[in-house]
This record gives sequence, C-alpha cells and structure tokens, in this order.
Amino acid sequence: MINIAIIGTGNISRMHLEGYAGFTGRCSITALVDTAPENAEKRKKDFPFIAEAKVVSDYKEILNDTSIDLVDICTPPFCHAEIAAAFLNAGKHVIVEKPMAASLEECDRMIAAAEKNKKLLSVIAQNRFRGDVHKLKSTLDTGLIGRVVHAQVDSFWWRGHSYYDLWWRGTWDTEGGGCTLNHAVHHIDMLGWMLGRPAEINAIISNTAHDNAEVEDLSVAILRYNGSDRIANGALAQVTSSVVHHGEEQQLIVQGEKARISFPWRVAAHLAQPNGFPKPEQNEALIKELNDFYGALPDLPYGGHTAQLDNILTALETGGSPLSGGADGRLTIELITAIYKASIEGRKVTLPIGNDDPFYTTEGLTKKAPRFYQKTAFAQNLSGDIKT
Ligand SMILES: NC(=O)c1ccc[n+]([C@@H]2O[C@H](COP(=O)([O-])OP(=O)(O)OC[C@H]3O[C@@H](n4cnc5c(N)ncnc54)[C@H](O)[C@@H]3O)[C@@H](O)[C@H]2O)c1
Repeated sequence: MINIAIIGTGNISRMHLEGYAGFTGRCSITALVDTAPENAEKRKKDFPFIAEAKVVSDYKEILNDTSIDLVDICTPPFCHAEIAAAFLNAGKHVIVEKPMAASLEECDRMIAAAEKNKKLLSVIAQNRFRGDVHKLKSTLDTGLIGRVVHAQVDSFWWRGHSYYDLWWRGTWDTEGGGCTLNHAVHHIDMLGWMLGRPAEINAIISNTAHDNAEVEDLSVAILRYNGSDRIANGALAQVTSSVVHHGEEQQLIVQGEKARISFPWRVAAHLAQPNGFPKPEQNEALIKELNDFYGALPDLPYGGHTAQLDNILTALETGGSPLSGGADGRLTIELITAIYKASIEGRKVTLPIGNDDPFYTTEGLTKKAPRFYQKTAFAQNLSGDIKT
C-alpha cells in the first residue's frame, strides 16, 4: 500500500482524486496540505474515500512523516520546485503537476534531489496517455512515414478575460509565464516526446486579448531540427500556443517523407507523377498499412490523469520508470524557455540552453520578460468547471 500526501487541493486535485479513487487497493491518501485548509476540507466532503486524511496548512509539518511514501504536488507553478526538492530530500517519491517548474535551474534542482535520494520524480503529462496521442507516437515509431520533415502543433485553447483574475495567474512571478508555459506545455511535451530536442528555435510571444495579465496569451514558434535516422536535416516544427482560439481545435500533424499522420488521426500519402505533381491516387498500400497498424493497437485501460497515476503507481510497485520523468519535464521547460528567450531577444536560440545562460534561472527569465499589461484582480477562487 502506497501512502500519499496531496499538496494543493484546488481545481486539478479533483482529477488526481478521481484517479486514486479507482486504486484504493493500491494506495491510500493519508494527508492533504493546503495553505487554504478549507479547500482540503471541501475535497474530503467530495471524496468519502479520503475522509480519514489529515489536513495541514504547511507542507513542512509532514516533511518528516515516515508513513508517507509519495507526495503529489498540485500547487501553483511558482512553488513546485521548492516543495518537490524538499520532499525528495526527505526521502519521498514525488509527482508534480505541469509545468514542472518555472525555469531550467528549478528543474535541475528537482532532478538532482531525485537522483541523490534515489526517488521517483514524475511530471504530469496526462495527454501522453490519451488513446489517440499514444497510438500516434507508436505509429510514428514504426518509421513507416519515413523521416519527419515537418510538424504542426496547434495548441489552441480559449480562456475568457476573467481567467487571469485568479490570484496566481497572469504574472511572471507566480504563473511563470502565459499560455506557452501553462497550456501549450501539454503539446510541447508531446512534440518533445515524439521528435526530441531541436537544434534551434525562433519565436514571437504576444498578448492580444487579456489586458489584465502580464503574460502572453498567444505565441508562435518555429523549431529547426538537425538530421537523424528519424528526422530529415532541416526539418521544421511550427508551434502555436494560444488561449485566444475559439473552438479549441487542437492537433499535432507529423509530415514524413512518405506520409502524414496526426492526432486527431488522419493519414495521407502522396505519390509523384513523372513531373513531380501528385498522382490522383494516393499510396493506398501505405495508407492501409498505417491504418491497420494504428487500428490494431490496444486501447489503454485508462485515460488522462488516471492512466498516468496508474503508470506511476505501477513504476513504484515494480521498480520501473514512469513514462514521464524529470528529464521529460525538463525538455519541455527547455523548449518553452527557448521560445521566451527567442522572442524577448528577437533572435534565434540555439539549444541546449546552458546553465550560464541568463534565461536558465527563474530570476533571469522573469527579469527580462515583457509585462504586456498590469494584473489588477487577485481572486482567491473563481467559480465554474475546469477543462484539461
Ligand atoms: N494537467 C492539467 O491539465 C492541469 C490543469 C489545470 C491546472 N494544472 C496545474 O495544476 C497546478 C494547480 O492548478 P489549479 O488549477 O488546481 O490551481 P488552484 O488555484 O485551483 O489550486 C491550487 C491550490 O494550491 C494551494 N496552494 C497554493 N500554494 C500552496 C502551498 N505553498 N502549499 C500548499 N498549498 C498551496 C491553493 O490554496 C489552492 O487550493 C498548476 O501547476 C496548474 O498549472 C494542470
């Protein structure tokens, strides 16, 4: 039985508790920590299976509680690194919500604490466990589409003006960034998972519709890759991160030398006429092979947060590794940091970002970041449902 403490019992803790509720034979939620303990008490009412959990307001009160094996951090981004490193150094395994942290220095501090103490560190990236994303990755890994030449990542979300009225959202100090860090983090994680680290990045960040936030609500980035056995030399990816897109039509399209595949799932595969123009008929044999492979992949037993929590519990039970570890969360933060740096400095950024780079630290990044607008409202809670 794995004993778990949840730190931060706001919106997203509900998804974690819905997941744990299906695994009561494997784990037990023994403590809830929230600087607003009334949020934790509310969660206890929502989820009778955690009625016995103790509630405290300061994580330091349970730091040395030897009965706790795993700590699940669901606080705002600015305190992920501090809390994660403290618990890893106290000998606990750690799950941390996205984004892993506000800077590469914070990520490295967390990874070093996990390595030193030989504890598991997993970063929430629940979209890796979506059936269509998981199957896209497996299909890409077959190499059937040839080397990748282009990827299109549309991280299209829509959030109304009041979204940034929550106290910790909309400032570089507490949210760590805007939609690139907090929304597109999901799609940038998928891209990093599928294609790895690019060689360089160009980008522009902007704020078009939220004059109550310091941070960006829109960014467009272009990533260039060096060649490998999987990626054509000079391959490009375009990543749009947005909270201004009505319809929220999200997609990740990968164009290979021989075919295109995507989530949502769609395949196309042109063949050339002698003059290079596409034949009227596509490569039906390859399209069939790709559809057959994709269609034969088994569905995952769970989706989203539940699937990822199952993956983490299984890693702890078997001594294995989680699908999304510290290095995965760090790569995502590196790509996002590069997008910010490229836009702020107005020039292309070459990767990797070194630890002597001014953008490596939270202080360095927040000092240079543009304040698009001043944040004026600081609501403790906002009513309404959330969508992940
Ligand atoms: N994976 C996803 O799809 C997804 C979706 C939404 C939010 N998130 C992430 O989850 C995290 C929390 O977001 P949320 O929407 O639940 O925010 P929230 O404001 O609803 O909840 C955060 C909770 O943490 C508490 N808290 C703040 N500082 C604390 C501290 N130092 N110690 C203990 N408790 C503290 C707050 O009182 C609040 O109850 C963020 O990192 C966010 O990016 C992830």
